[in-house]
Amino acid sequence: MAEITITDDIAACQRVRKIVFVDEQGIALAEDLDGMDDQATHLLATDNGTPIGTARVLEKGSTGKIGRLAVLKPYRGHGIGAAIMRAALDDLAARPHITEARLGAQIDAIAFYEALGFTPEGDEFLDAGLPHQEMVRPL
Ligand SMILES: CC(C)(COP(=O)(O)OP(=O)(O)OC[C@H]1O[C@@H](n2cnc3c(N)ncnc32)[C@H](O)[C@@H]1OP(=O)(O)O)[C@@H](O)C(=O)NCCC(=O)NCCS
Repeated sequence: MAEITITDDIAACQRVRKIVFVDEQGIALAEDLDGMDDQATHLLATDNGTPIGTARVLEKGSTGKIGRLAVLKPYRGHGIGAAIMRAALDDLAARPHITEARLGAQIDAIAFYEALGFTPEGDEFLDAGLPHQEMVRPL
């Protein structure tokens, strides 16, 4: 069973992201490493100590922006992505000044985020060359 923690090990999170976003999805490494990691809260999922999933949270005013959610392919479909998202939402809900969570969903993942209480807002847009949908959830 995966363990989800808030971590200072940004390099471990970046290694998971590289496997998923760069190697699997073909996104440029420079797009993933956008310089915001130092300002973010990072979540790491591990399986017996091995990093297998991640996400990060950035604050913008009263909004918590969740991004870079990734689970290594062999570990998908076992609730790990949803567990990382719930941990991110719990962390944001504990910050009194944060009133909503937002994210840019890859189109294929819209249903996944809807199941976690997010609703689409506005039109599709391109990010890193892939179509995305802004989604929001009150906290
Ligand atoms: C999206 C991602 C993080 C989901 O992780 P995961 O661990 O496989 O997700 P879970 O097992 O927690 O799925 C939870 C539920 O969402 C569903 N789900 C997962 N991915 C889905 C998708 N792309 N579309 C619709 N439903 C999806 C699962 O079937 C599951 O439903 P259930 O609870 O009824 O069984 C993972 O597929 C991934 O890393 N993809 C590549 C990177 C990516 O696209 N990141 C998202 C960027 S916006």
